[in-house]
Amino acid sequence: MTTPIRKIGFIGAGNMTQSIVGGMVASGYPADHIFVSNPSTAKLDKLKNELNVQTSQDNVEIAEAAEVIVLAVKPQLMADVCEHLRTTVTDLESKLIVSIAAGIRFDKYRNYLNEDIRMIRVMPNTPSLVGEGLSGLVSDDRATSADCDFIEHTFNGVGKSVWVENEDQLDILGAVAGSGPAYFFEFMATLQKAAEALGFDLDKAREMVQQTALGAAKMASHSDLELADLRSQVTSKGGSTAKGVEVYQQANLEQISADAVRAAVKRNQEMAELF
Ligand SMILES: NC(=O)c1ccc[n+]([C@@H]2O[C@H](COP(=O)([O-])OP(=O)(O)OC[C@H]3O[C@@H](n4cnc5c(N)ncnc54)[C@H](OP(=O)(O)O)[C@@H]3O)[C@@H](O)[C@H]2O)c1
Repeated sequence: MTTPIRKIGFIGAGNMTQSIVGGMVASGYPADHIFVSNPSTAKLDKLKNELNVQTSQDNVEIAEAAEVIVLAVKPQLMADVCEHLRTTVTDLESKLIVSIAAGIRFDKYRNYLNEDIRMIRVMPNTPSLVGEGLSGLVSDDRATSADCDFIEHTFNGVGKSVWVENEDQLDILGAVAGSGPAYFFEFMATLQKAAEALGFDLDKAREMVQQTALGAAKMASHSDLELADLRSQVTSKGGSTAKGVEVYQQANLEQISADAVRAAVKRNQEMAELF
């Protein structure tokens, strides 16, 4: 099945847009069908020079040119950005609206934009830039199956995508996978520091940690075993790995992860109220 192509316009050229657009172009999506707007020019210039996509400092110009509008600004700016689009873009209800913002729900967008919009919410993550993203998707009851196919194909082009049943699940997915790269970087940095503290220079310590993380992630994704079983396989009784793992277990790593995810879900829910 061929990938459906539509004119897609990103409002906001921040980290997430750079990751998604970079991944889309790398996976063969035609750059002349990608439009991006941003108030300042540096990020636009980078996108134009490196990826040859269409850019503008004017959100309305990009929204008018696009069949699919991706809202990619910070949640606290969403109301103002939408209000401007609502009052200026012609035929907004004929376009598919996609938001990648954490927290803000369909009913808010209907208030901000138009009661009749068709909408899909996406919760992507930054590994989209290297084609290894994980995007959660949820559609409202107006988006068509062609809309859903288009968005699924688009985000599959930059990794994998998963449909969730409702917006509560999207908040949870965001707290695990949207925020997840930061958790992994945090953990990797602690391992790197541990190696440095024992005498390795930064470059060697980093290489050890990142190659180990990559290898472990690949092993997990190529295996049908549970993660706990994969862990057991590399943990001989009485060996050095068992000693190291024991330290994490005594510090209750499981509870720390549960608390981290709950804190991020709570923040998503707060943002739904705030913005
Ligand atoms: N980063 C993640 O891992 C991640 C994951 C999932 C979802 N998200 C969501 O993705 C959205 C964007 O996040 P981000 O990390 O890409 O943020 P970001 O790097 O701060 O990018 C936001 C961009 O919006 C631009 N902007 C500001 N005002 C604007 C306006 N009025 N019209 C158009 N663009 C405007 C900013 O431009 P200037 O810099 O010129 O002000 C900036 O380039 C957020 O809603 C976030 O919740 C992010």
